[in-house]
Amino acid sequence: MCQTKMQSALRIFIENSKHRVFNVRKYTSQAQSKFNNTVDDSDVKHHSKFSKDWWSINGKMYGLHSFNPVRVQFVRDGLANVGHKEVNFGMPLQGLKVLDVGCGGGIFSEPLARIGANVTGIDPSTKLIETAKEHAILDKSLSDRLNYLNTTIEEHIITHAGYYDVVVASEILEHVSNQDLFLKSCVDILKPGGSLFVTTLNRTFLSLAGAIIAAEYIFGTVPLGTHEWNKFISPTQTRNILEKYGCQTKLVHGLGFNPLTNRWFWTKSTAINYALHVKKNT
Ligand SMILES: C[S@@+](CC[C@H](N)C(=O)[O-])C[C@H]1O[C@@H](n2cnc3c(N)ncnc32)[C@H](O)[C@@H]1O
Repeated sequence: MCQTKMQSALRIFIENSKHRVFNVRKYTSQAQSKFNNTVDDSDVKHHSKFSKDWWSINGKMYGLHSFNPVRVQFVRDGLANVGHKEVNFGMPLQGLKVLDVGCGGGIFSEPLARIGANVTGIDPSTKLIETAKEHAILDKSLSDRLNYLNTTIEEHIITHAGYYDVVVASEILEHVSNQDLFLKSCVDILKPGGSLFVTTLNRTFLSLAGAIIAAEYIFGTVPLGTHEWNKFISPTQTRNILEKYGCQTKLVHGLGFNPLTNRWFWTKSTAINYALHVKKNT
């Protein structure tokens, strides 16, 4: 990496950090005035900008595309470990009602439906839900197992509390404005005995260096301005919140991403990315 590229990345990072401090204040007052809403409007607006590029494998969302093999495996194996039996070979999620919260353009929803789940994807971004619906039409085999709604979990829970067998909240916890309420809603919308799968970012010095400075400012593997470090959350905090709301932790596992090979891998370290599976008590 040449020195000038590093210097200019650091200069942009410092300037954007000043802007972020201002945003933290705005976000705090927003959360206080709308204390029962987990949506950070500026975050939804940011992601909506990429709606046209969402399904381009080598586009801005390529990190989410390459994440699919690992996270689909995480959900499939996690469910097998808590006793879910495959009734139809090749369709291990058949018969399960799965909610993909913050589904964006549907990158994770589609492969879950493809292995049998009845998936509902929800997202507060109108543009991303349009993108998800347009893309789903391309695979007719998904039409009766995939449904998208432009809504939030706070609204959806009004009619669906205790409804889902599985909730996936992948790369979303670090984008919401009230993490405690968001996680509580994810638990409340599950049936007793249901499973919640979360993937998110830890709040460490390494995650600042790896997930923001390197990913956004040096390698450009994540669009600039996607992450705010103050919204990252440690696995212990996530786990404590979920246990407070009546869940048992089944697995916490570190994840790594190699931007040179565009591959995700399991690792012992939870210092940057991690995955967590909890089961709601019966
Ligand atoms: C990084 S994208 C992840 C998309 C998808 N989960 C995936 O991994 O392919 C984050 C998504 O969270 C959505 N989002 C932001 N705040 C949200 C909230 N409070 N509730 C639900 N979704 C939210 C954004 O609109 C965006 O689509």
